[in-house]
Amino acid sequence: MSKKVINAALLGLGTVGTGVYKVLRQQRDEMEQKIGAVVEIKKILVRNLKKAAAKIDDPSVLTNNWKEIVEDDSIDLVIEVMGGIEPARTWILEAFQAGKHVVTANKDLVASYGSELLDSAAEYRRDFLFEASVAGGIPIIRPLKQCLAGNHISEVMGIVNGTTNFILTKMTQEGMEFAEALALATKLGYAEADPTADIQGLDAGRKMAIMASIAFNSRVTFQDVSTEGITQISSKDIRYAKELGCVIKLLGVARNTDTGIEVRVQPMLIPDTHPLATVNDSFNAVFVHGDAVDDAMFYGRGAGELPTASAIVGDVFDIVRNILADATGRIGCTCYKQLPIKDPDDMESRFFLRLHVDDRPGVLASIASVLGNNNVSIAQMIQKQKDGDLAEIVVVTSGVREGDFNDAMLIIEGMNVVHKVSSVIRVYGE
Ligand code: NAP
Ligand code: HSE
Repeated sequence: MSKKVINAALLGLGTVGTGVYKVLRQQRDEMEQKIGAVVEIKKILVRNLKKAAAKIDDPSVLTNNWKEIVEDDSIDLVIEVMGGIEPARTWILEAFQAGKHVVTANKDLVASYGSELLDSAAEYRRDFLFEASVAGGIPIIRPLKQCLAGNHISEVMGIVNGTTNFILTKMTQEGMEFAEALALATKLGYAEADPTADIQGLDAGRKMAIMASIAFNSRVTFQDVSTEGITQISSKDIRYAKELGCVIKLLGVARNTDTGIEVRVQPMLIPDTHPLATVNDSFNAVFVHGDAVDDAMFYGRGAGELPTASAIVGDVFDIVRNILADATGRIGCTCYKQLPIKDPDDMESRFFLRLHVDDRPGVLASIASVLGNNNVSIAQMIQKQKDGDLAEIVVVTSGVREGDFNDAMLIIEGMNVVHKVSSVIRVYGE
C-alpha cells in the first residue's frame, strides 16, 4: 500500500526552521505508524538561498518566492518560522485563503494579531496552532486550551524568557553585573544579536499576552501588558534581596480579578522558597492556578533549536491527525468573553525601594511621612552601611495601589535630602 503523504512548506530556515527540519527527519521512520502519514517538506522559503543550501540535503526544495508555495495545491500545511509581523501576517492570511493549515512560533505576531489570524482560520475551517510561541519546548498552549478547559483559571505566572533568566542567574550565583552577564549570554548564543526584546521584557510580555488570552478566555494583546526589563538591576539589589530571603526573577504575572485582567512582566523579588526561585539558567517555568486543578507547574527549555522544534512538530502532527480524521478547525479561538483590562495604576504591588539620602536626623522620618501620606504602608525599613557621605536605606512596602506609590515617588525624588533613587523593584506576593 502506498504511503499517505502530507506536504508541508517551511517559511524560514534559521535556528527554529533548521530544528524543525532535523526533528521531522528524526521522526521519519516512525511517523506513519505514529500519526498515519508522512510529512514531507516540499518547499523551504528563505531570503538567502546560498546560505540555506549549506544546511540541508536537498537544496532543490529552496525558494525565495512565496507564490510557489501559496499557489501549490499539493501543499496542505505551512510552518511559519521567519519571525516579525510582515510579511508573516499577510502570508498566513493568504495560506488560509488557499486552504492551508498553519503552524507558527511567532509570538510577536500572535500577541498582536492573534484574533485576526484565528478568525481567518475559522472562516476557512483551517487549523492554526502556535504552541512554540510561548515558552519554546514547554507544552502550555494546548494544556490551557484543552487539558485545563474544565477550570476557571485565576492566575498564570512564570519565567518565560530564557535569556533574562540566564543573566539573572549569573548575577545571583556568580555576582556578575548586568553587562558582564549579558555579554556571556551573547557569547553562549542565548541572547540574540539584538537582545532588546529580551532584556526590556517585551518578549516575555508577548508570551504573557498570549497565555492570558487563552487562560481567561478574553483577548489580551501585547499593548495591554505592563512591561519592565532587567537592565536596571544591579548585583547589589540581588545581594540585598538575598538578605531578605529572596531572589530576583523577571516574572510574568497574569491575574483574572473581579475588577479586570492584569498582565505584567517585571523584575520581582520572590521568596527563595518559592518553586520559581530555583528555575535557573535558560530554563522557563509556568505556574497555573485553576479552581479545579488547584496549582499546576510546567517546566523545561523555553527556547533553542530542538526544544522549539519539538513544540512545532507536535502541532504539525496534530494537524496531520486532524486532516486524516477530517476534523480540522476543531479548536479555534477560545476568547468568548470581553473582560476589562485593569489600569496599571490600580494594580496592587509590594515594592523594594533603595535610596541614597543625607545621613542626618529626621531623614528617615520625612521619607516615611511622604509614603504614609500617600497610603503607602511600610513593612520594613533598613539603614544599610554608609555609602561615602550618604546613608543607603532600603524600604519594603506592604501591598499598595501602584498609582499611590507613584505619587509618593514623585515627591520623594524631589526631596533635597534624597540624592538618588537607586532601585525600585516589585516584590511578588501579598
Ligand atoms: P532566525 O534564526 O533569525 O531565522 C529566520 C529565518 O527566516 C531565516 O532563515 C530567514 O532567511 C527567514 N526569513 C526571515 N524573513 C524572511 C522573509 N521575509 N522571506 C523569506 N525568509 C525570511 O529566527 P529564529 O530564531 O529561527 O526564530 C524564528 C521564529 O521563531 C521567530 O518568530 C521567533 O520569535 C520564534 N521563536 C524562536 C525561538 C528561538 O529559540 N530561537 C523560540 C521560540 C520561538 P534568511 O536567513 O535568508 O534571511
Ligand atoms: N529570546 C527568547 C528567550 C527565546 O530568551 O527566551 C525565543 O522565545
